[in-house]
Amino acid sequence: MAATADPRARPYSGYHRVSDAGEDPELTHTGPRTPCGEYFRRFWIPVAMTEELGEHPTPVTVLGEELVLFRDLSGRLGLLHKHCSHRRASLEYGIVSERGVRCCYHGWLFDVDGTILEAPGEPAESPIPRRLSHGAYPVIELAGLVFAYLGPPELRPEFPMLDTLSLPGDDLVPYAIDYPCNWLQVAENPMDPFHSVFLHTRVTRAHFNPAWGALPVVEWHPHEDGTGIHLTNVRRWEDFIWVRTAEVMLPAIAQPPDIYQNPDREKFFPGVGITKWTVPVDDTRCRIIAYRHFSPELDLDGKGDRARVGLNKVDFVGQTGIERSREEGLRMPGDYEAQVSQGPITVHAGERLATTDKGVALYRRMLRQAIRNLAAGDEPPQLRAGPDGQVPTMAGDVIVRVPASSGDDAELQRTVGREVGRIVYETMELERAARRAEIERRVRAWLHAHVASGGP
Ligand code: FES
Ligand SMILES: [Fe+2]
Repeated sequence: MAATADPRARPYSGYHRVSDAGEDPELTHTGPRTPCGEYFRRFWIPVAMTEELGEHPTPVTVLGEELVLFRDLSGRLGLLHKHCSHRRASLEYGIVSERGVRCCYHGWLFDVDGTILEAPGEPAESPIPRRLSHGAYPVIELAGLVFAYLGPPELRPEFPMLDTLSLPGDDLVPYAIDYPCNWLQVAENPMDPFHSVFLHTRVTRAHFNPAWGALPVVEWHPHEDGTGIHLTNVRRWEDFIWVRTAEVMLPAIAQPPDIYQNPDREKFFPGVGITKWTVPVDDTRCRIIAYRHFSPELDLDGKGDRARVGLNKVDFVGQTGIERSREEGLRMPGDYEAQVSQGPITVHAGERLATTDKGVALYRRMLRQAIRNLAAGDEPPQLRAGPDGQVPTMAGDVIVRVPASSGDDAELQRTVGREVGRIVYETMELERAARRAEIERRVRAWLHAHVASGGP
C-alpha cells in the first residue's frame, strides 16, 4: 500500500504537527465588551460562597472584573467595583458600615447599589453624590451561595429557580473549586460522559462504581428553545439497563445525576448529585461554584461525605489541585488533572474531535450561535419557570431490570434510552413527586408492552 502523502499522518510526525494556531477567543474570552463576556452578562451567575464573606470586603474576580463582595452591618450584601470611584484605592480595605462600605483613603461611603452616600472631604454643596454612582451589581443569596447579575440593568432576567434547589428531603451543601484554566474546558466536561468510562474507571481504578466502566450508548438532544442540551447515557450492567439523563443549561449550568449511583436495583428518577455553575474568573482561571445534594434517595451505598464538601473541597476524587499532592495526581488523575492539563486556554485548532465528542461539539456550536445572535441584537433565551415558579430540569437516573436477550443489546439500550428520555422530557411540567410516579408508571408500561413481550 502506498504511504499517505500527508506527512502529518506518518510516524515521527512531530515536526509537521507543531502549529502556531491560536485559541478560540469567541468562546473563551469573557472580559468586558468581548462577545462571550457580553453573553455571560445576560445571566445570573454565582460569584462566591457566603462562607467567604468575613469582617472585611472580599475581593472577587468574575468575567475579568475586579470586584469586592461584603455584607454591610444592616445585613445587606453588596458587590461593587473594587477600585474606588475617587482615586481607585481598593475597597478590599474599605470599612464595612451600617449602610454600605467606606473607602479607607478619603472616606467616601458607597451604598450596596453604588449610591455615593458621603464624600466627607467635599463641600456640602458638592455635586459628586448626585452626578456619580459607583459600579455595583445586584446580588441574591441562596443556600450558602451568592449569585450576581453583571449585565445591563434593564435586561436583568428573573433568577432561574431550578426545581432541584428545593426538593423535599434534599440538603444543598455548597462548594467552590478554583481551576487555573479557561472556563470552557471545565464547563464542557459534562457533555462528555465517555470520560467516565476511561478517566473515572478503566484507566487507573474505579473512582465511582465499576459499572461506570461499561461503554454507554449516548444521544444528545438540544432543547428546542435553545436554553440547553440534555443527553441520555445508557449502559448495560448485568440484568439492568441504566439510563442517566444529564443536562447543560447555557451558558454553563450542569446537573449530573447521583454521582455514587449503583445500578443494583430498579430506580426511577431519584434526583441529582450536583448542581454546578462554571464561572469564568478571567480568561485563564475559572471556578466551579455548586451544590452537592444529599438525600435519602441518593448515594444508597453511603460513599459521600458532606464534611468533605466546601471551599476547594468536594467528596470525590481528583477534583481540586489543593487536596492532593502532584504525586497523587500522577498516580490517579481525575477531572482536575485532565482539564487543567489541557492548558491555560486549550487550543481548539489542535484537537481531533471524534465520535465521543459529539456533545462537546454541539455545546460549542450552541454557545457560538447564541454569542453571535446576541452580537447581532438577539437577546439569548432564558430558562422559563412553570406556574410554581420553578424551572423544571432533566437530570436523573432510571434503572430498570431488562436482562440481555440474544438480539442486538446495543440497539435495545438505545431504544430504552430514547423512550426513557422522552418520558422524562414529557413529564417536566409535573411536580417532582408526581413526576417520579409518572415516570415509573410510563416506563413500566412501555417495557411491559415492548420488551417483556419479546423486544421492541
Ligand atoms: S480613593 Fe477612595 S475616597 Fe479617595
Ligand atoms: Fe468527570
